[in-house]
Amino acid sequence: MGSNAIGERVSSIAASLVKHGYEILVGRNLLKQVSSDTRQHLGASRCAIITDANVAVLFANRVRKSFLSAGVESTLITIPAGEQSKTLQQAGRICDQMIAAGLDRQSFIVGLGGGMIGDISGFVAAIYHRGIPHVQIPTTLLAMVDSSIGGKTGVDTRAGKNLIGAFHQPALVIDDLDVLKTLPRRQFNQGFAEIIKHAIIADAQMFRILQSWKAGAASALQRLIQRNIQIKSRIVAKDGRDRTGQRALLNFGHTVGHAIERAGDYRKFLHGEAVSLGIVAACAISMKRAGLRPDQRAAIVDVLERFGLPTSLPPKFPRKKIFDALKFDKKFEAGKVHFIVTPRIGVAYVAKDVTLDDIRDAVKEL
Ligand SMILES: NC(=O)c1ccc[n+]([C@@H]2O[C@H](COP(=O)([O-])OP(=O)(O)OC[C@H]3O[C@@H](n4cnc5c(N)ncnc54)[C@H](O)[C@@H]3O)[C@@H](O)[C@H]2O)c1
Ligand SMILES: [Zn+2]
Repeated sequence: MGSNAIGERVSSIAASLVKHGYEILVGRNLLKQVSSDTRQHLGASRCAIITDANVAVLFANRVRKSFLSAGVESTLITIPAGEQSKTLQQAGRICDQMIAAGLDRQSFIVGLGGGMIGDISGFVAAIYHRGIPHVQIPTTLLAMVDSSIGGKTGVDTRAGKNLIGAFHQPALVIDDLDVLKTLPRRQFNQGFAEIIKHAIIADAQMFRILQSWKAGAASALQRLIQRNIQIKSRIVAKDGRDRTGQRALLNFGHTVGHAIERAGDYRKFLHGEAVSLGIVAACAISMKRAGLRPDQRAAIVDVLERFGLPTSLPPKFPRKKIFDALKFDKKFEAGKVHFIVTPRIGVAYVAKDVTLDDIRDAVKEL
């Protein structure tokens, strides 16, 4: 833990929990001093800043200036905003631009943006010269509490999301709360779907905090972000490469959530909104298969609604498309359904007795 004059700044103990030795800074007004933090960790003098068109106009100058003042030369690479940019072709174009700019093995990559930028910039960092350091500056709540932690990087293909990628842990993560001020409300709220998920699977006390959450206090938000970093880091540390099943707990609400996202052609619902619906479905299944009490399910629905997240599908939404999309889920390996359930808030496990019919029934009720 540390603090400085610029603002309360905490190097999260999450870093040591992930056992990869990287630091996660959470605080305010951190963009200005990006270069000193980065220098301290990397000592390199050249980098590529990869960002999207929305984020570039908001923050790229501040970050570049900070690097310039520390003598770090940066090449700004801006790609169009939106999930459509997270492709192998785009990753290739970024690599070409980096080669043209003369960036070599000694350079590093800064991913400045939401989860889309985090994933593609991390993927480029994993493959460029067989791997160079990746600094993440998440600019969405979702990216701070979820996608910037755990080292999963990648791109989408036409067949599905995140099918191509690599594990590549960041060298440093810088979470500056001030960047969230420009985030549209809907984007901000969807980050809470992952926070509520973390509470349900691992932290009953945090769930109670969320039940009485009042927007506004930056210090409370900072503590909440730190707590979520710790929860995700702890789970990831037990199962770094997603092999032993521990990491699967993070998929709570995601089996149905992913199917809903896909059924809505990735346009109708944001990821967090689809996950919110998926959590409601997972609660129905948990009542049937894991003894979740009805009042706990109701409390979960209440909290989701508190953050403006959907808890039922529009009446005309084509539910059949959700069933069709379910089979694309990676968790339906060899016909067996591994479904994450919660017997009570704060605890989750992988159930092996959930059937496709259970899932269908839960979707019908949504
Ligand atoms: N690697 C992982 O473990 C992991 C985990 C979860 C999600 N993801 C990935 O994360 C992505 C979703 O992340 P996301 O929700 O952050 O999406 P995103 O990166 O597309 O950002 C959402 C939108 O907000 C804009 N934006 C970002 N920061 C802003 C700011 N501060 N002010 C104003 N606008 C801003 C972006 O330009 C974009 O239009 C998906 O690609 C998903 O697959 C990865
Ligand atoms: Zn998610």
